Amino acid sequence: MAATNETSFPERNRGWYQDDLTEVNEPIRKLLESYSKVPSSEVVKHVNTIRERGFASNPYPCIGLYRFAILTLSTHPLYKTIVERLKAPNASYLDVGCCFGQDLRQLVQDGVPSENLVGLDIEGALMELGYDFFLDRDTLKSRFVVADVFKGAEQGKVWTDLVERGIDVLHCSAFFHLFTLDEQIAAGKQIAELIKKDGIIVGRQMGSVKPGNVAAIKADSFSYRHNVETFDAMWKEVGEATQTRWKVEGTMDMIGINPSSPVEDENSRRFLFTVTRIE
Ligand SMILES: C[S@@+](CC[C@H](N)C(=O)[O-])C[C@H]1O[C@@H](n2cnc3c(N)ncnc32)[C@H](O)[C@@H]1O
Repeated sequence: MAATNETSFPERNRGWYQDDLTEVNEPIRKLLESYSKVPSSEVVKHVNTIRERGFASNPYPCIGLYRFAILTLSTHPLYKTIVERLKAPNASYLDVGCCFGQDLRQLVQDGVPSENLVGLDIEGALMELGYDFFLDRDTLKSRFVVADVFKGAEQGKVWTDLVERGIDVLHCSAFFHLFTLDEQIAAGKQIAELIKKDGIIVGRQMGSVKPGNVAAIKADSFSYRHNVETFDAMWKEVGEATQTRWKVEGTMDMIGINPSSPVEDENSRRFLFTVTRIE
């Protein structure tokens, strides 16, 4: 099922639909075998089937290039602290742009009560497919909400319930980097109103040693890639606009970076961040 020249499925020919996997990496394989009870011999086929269905509904690079099969949150330096924090009664976690909700399932597997966890995405079909991926439609007590981060409270209860509840840990991976800097600031302002004081925003996104605009996946549009300093400046601007204050920490490395990939270059870095609400 490699990229083809079929005009009936042009999305496959944009460079971010890779060949089917023949092996599945250990962290997600372990999660699928132990949490979802997918037989070991079926894991590769299962991941390929979900990728095919996901890409047919939303042809994002993160689906075509199997990024969803790389667990991110568990590689964050604060992961153990996050798991302990989320085990507390009434603790709250929100995964913004959760897609299939793979990191949320890893938290459940690591002992976090699933009712403390909420996934949010603009595409309900991807969250629905998450149930088929993890085979937990009848057991998982987490909520999944279809919402647009940019619309915030104008969407009504779907958003204001989250504001009222207040979030301790918000996970937001491969999300900000989809947008221009102005759009990221607008999204940051909406997200800021969800976080409790001392709450944190953690995630991984594509960073760059030369921060600035790169071509986005939509034709003739741009998205902005940060380094730690520009991300810090963005959260200062968000803080000033929302009467909040944030401490930004981050690291950039080459883990999982492939400069010859259609969505990366020699300046690309994996950017792991923690943004703590201090006021
Ligand atoms: C690149 S994927 C990342 C998925 C996942 N967080 C990960 O790291 O694998 C971005 C996700 O953000 C969602 N998204 C895009 N725009 C959004 C918006 N305005 N509000 C909420 N979710 C959005 C997409 O539907 C998609 O699932």
